[in-house]
Amino acid sequence: MTRQTRPFPHRHLLGATALEADDIGCILRRARHFDDDIAAGRAVPQTLAGKPVLGLFFEDSTRTRMSFEHAARLLGGAWYNLDIGRSAVKKGEGLMDTVHTMESMLAPAAMIIRHSEYAAPDYIAARVKCAVVNAGDSWREHPTQALLDAYTIEKHKGRVAGLRVAICGDIAHSRVAASNMAVLRALGAHINIIAPPVLMPEKLPADGITAYETMEEGLKDCDIVMMLRIQKERMQSGLIESDEAFFRQYGLTFDRLAHARPDALVMHPGPMNRGVEIAADIADDPKRSVILDQVRNGVYVRMAVLDLLAGGTKSGGTK
Ligand code: CP
Repeated sequence: MTRQTRPFPHRHLLGATALEADDIGCILRRARHFDDDIAAGRAVPQTLAGKPVLGLFFEDSTRTRMSFEHAARLLGGAWYNLDIGRSAVKKGEGLMDTVHTMESMLAPAAMIIRHSEYAAPDYIAARVKCAVVNAGDSWREHPTQALLDAYTIEKHKGRVAGLRVAICGDIAHSRVAASNMAVLRALGAHINIIAPPVLMPEKLPADGITAYETMEEGLKDCDIVMMLRIQKERMQSGLIESDEAFFRQYGLTFDRLAHARPDALVMHPGPMNRGVEIAADIADDPKRSVILDQVRNGVYVRMAVLDLLAGGTKSGGTK
């Protein structure tokens, strides 16, 4: 029996830890509608028609920025991105002066914020009229990355609940790992985190997450192997001996992948450092790697988020 699910209750998307399983389900179902519409060549509902959407990327981005832009345009919205590196920020303009200037000029329906400061999107959300989406802040949260990862897992494996997911590498400095742990736990996955002691969080964020120091132990029987880049921009220098030494112990090779289930899929949020956390032949293996699928699914998931927060759509649809 199909039933209408409860309305999406959030005004902003600031972090994955604030999402309940129902909220995540709502976003993923909406993403599936867009994915199906586009795959079938059907017209996408223009729920952002005439609405400005503003990108404020105070840190560099390829995937997140371009997929939000594409998502906004597919929904009929008008995308604006402030080029921070060539803006008055370089003359010393403060964060909220920049935000309020853009808000006054464009009256955006949504702002998409990436920033190196902890909880900067939350700070902005409390001071503007429109919806705010966190596109990655500090090492804290990158919620749309975790949502697109969950969508990708569900699309390939048919479910997330009950799967064993290994998250490997620089866990301590990774906002992708933090948001994934929240989303995957909410959906009922088992999580193994694998890292050298210097890249392991001091405290695990939740029960039900098991920490391993070796890839061989941590990958055992995993359904999904999620690799992470070493976040050099957020770590003290000298924490790892060298890229080569890291690859020798923690790089994903076919030999190491053999410890996971034979049908285990390999994921990476990008950008990848080939030969550091992942061997090039695995990254490019169409049977095991779903890395480019993740990128494509990011468009549908970000369409869903924009639609629910700024497009007037109230729920993910029936289930
Ligand atoms: N995964 C991710 O956030 O990539 P970008 O930095 O390219 O947006």
